[in-house]
Amino acid sequence: MLLLRHCRGLTRVGLLKTQRVQLLQGAALPVAVCAGSLCARWGSSHGGHKSGQYQRSHGPNWRHALAGLLAGTGAVLAYGLHHSQTEQAAATIVQPIAPASSLPIYTQDEVTKHRSVEEGVWVTYKGSVYDITEFVSMHPGGDKILLAAGGALEPFWALYAVHSQDHVLEILSEYKVGELSAEDRLMQQSVKSTDPYSTDPERHPALRINSLKPFNAEPPPEILSDNYITPSAIFFKRNHLPVPQVDPKSYRLQVEGVPGGVSLSLSLEELKTHFPKHTVTATLQCAGNRRSEMNKVKQVKGLNWGIAAISNATWSGARLKDVLLAAGYRSEVAQQTSHVQFEGLDSDVTGTTYGASIPLNKAVSEEGDVLLAYQMNGEDLPADHGYPVRVVVPGTVGARNVKWLGKIIVSEEESSSHWQQNDYKGFSPATDWDTVDFKSAPAIQELPIQSAITQPVEGAVVERSAEEVTVKGYAWSGGGREVVRVDVSLDGGRTWQVAQLQSSEKGQVPAPSPPPGRAWAWKLWELTAPLPPVVQELEIVCKAVDNSYNMQPDSVAPIWNLRGVLSNAWHRVKVTVKEDEEKQKLL
Ligand code: MTE
Repeated sequence: MLLLRHCRGLTRVGLLKTQRVQLLQGAALPVAVCAGSLCARWGSSHGGHKSGQYQRSHGPNWRHALAGLLAGTGAVLAYGLHHSQTEQAAATIVQPIAPASSLPIYTQDEVTKHRSVEEGVWVTYKGSVYDITEFVSMHPGGDKILLAAGGALEPFWALYAVHSQDHVLEILSEYKVGELSAEDRLMQQSVKSTDPYSTDPERHPALRINSLKPFNAEPPPEILSDNYITPSAIFFKRNHLPVPQVDPKSYRLQVEGVPGGVSLSLSLEELKTHFPKHTVTATLQCAGNRRSEMNKVKQVKGLNWGIAAISNATWSGARLKDVLLAAGYRSEVAQQTSHVQFEGLDSDVTGTTYGASIPLNKAVSEEGDVLLAYQMNGEDLPADHGYPVRVVVPGTVGARNVKWLGKIIVSEEESSSHWQQNDYKGFSPATDWDTVDFKSAPAIQELPIQSAITQPVEGAVVERSAEEVTVKGYAWSGGGREVVRVDVSLDGGRTWQVAQLQSSEKGQVPAPSPPPGRAWAWKLWELTAPLPPVVQELEIVCKAVDNSYNMQPDSVAPIWNLRGVLSNAWHRVKVTVKEDEEKQKLL
């Protein structure tokens, strides 16, 4: 029993109340497991470990993974999964506590009684019962986890297909305390969990999928720069949740919080007919674009985006400013409020919706061009891009461009959403998951200068007989700053040439220069240059400059950050130069 007392995972409600009897009756296995596995993982002071020692070095991985599983929020989940993956090899292989037969049988009613830290927090998964009390009390986001307490995990996990991975189940297995009764298992099986993603739209097969549920995908780089306006079908897609089904006939957009103003409830028709239609060409870029390059320096948490979590489209809709004026906004209001929050209609099983906010001055500025867009590239918004209405905040990180917009709230506060408060923030390379304080950094709004090479792609082969090489790419800067130059190097950055910029569809009359501070769209660029003699490999590099003379950093390591956001170092692509066969024979 001494061993058990020291083992915090087991002295908690589940085993203390239910298994102690069994243990006292001589079932030695759980005691051994406590000493060998759980105690070590819980950072017990028993057995030579300093209190919390194990937990400090390995703790966050399983804790946050499970938090992510239950709460289903991006960063926490990504954090946990990453840790699990990278540290998996080093971590002890966790065995289930005991074979099913040696564990007690519980009814669903008994499980349901354990819905609080005081009574113990139990959940079921595939017919087994887990006591996650200790986990909940130690995890800061534990309140969300409690929503699953006393019931089945399956409906939560249906939202995040990523959970059904072996290492995640291994983590859960540490908390197993029993089996669900045969009757209740049957009951659970007869209640089919419906896949919340089953109504997601069809997607273009060319897209490179980063995650299927929720759907996240980018176009192959080599087709990204084929069009100045990215076709909607291959425009990158970044969803945190299932795509909601919105009936345009019953759709209402709620607007509230304007001090001294009125609340509005606008139908789609009213949005389209009561406000002037405004069209803007704007590039959207995910904060995690080019995260894969950060991953090569040191593993970060998040989807492993390549260089194409960025696209350019024409958006049409009502100006947010006009809608806020209709809700009673006056310039004096700016003294009392500072933010405009947006809520999406996509939600997780807890009913939590996607949300974000932008500064009020951006929202109401004539030059800010913030749209409540109902069209993309001249057509109704596609389902993946926010049908029927999304916010388009030109020059601002993709995360604030809330899709399937349900509510606009003028407020003194930023959005309290996870994606505003705990995600999409930049940190020093020195900050790690043990030291990060999300409150210490501002939410990303305007993005920094960016450019990347779309053609040739990494590993491509260039024929020596072609005598020249054509390099293509995109360049864009946040905050309406215009890209004024792109430099390209064929020799790893030793010598440079200036690329030609393109700010409209090829063959079309170039669009007039945007007004200062309103360059919302990217520039495509191209350089055709003679192949350098002799070399067998080219290291092609690009870097852009905007009209504030902001330039990209030359390497990734100094801007590395634990979430892998704001990845905008010089982009480098290595290609092989293939000598002519005749020449090769002579050599
Ligand atoms: N809006 C809602 N409602 N739900 C979301 O998951 N994702 C955000 C933003 N708006 C998101 C959202 C993120 S992180 C990005 S990068 C952009 O949408 C992506 O927009 P897109 O899918 O149209 O390219």
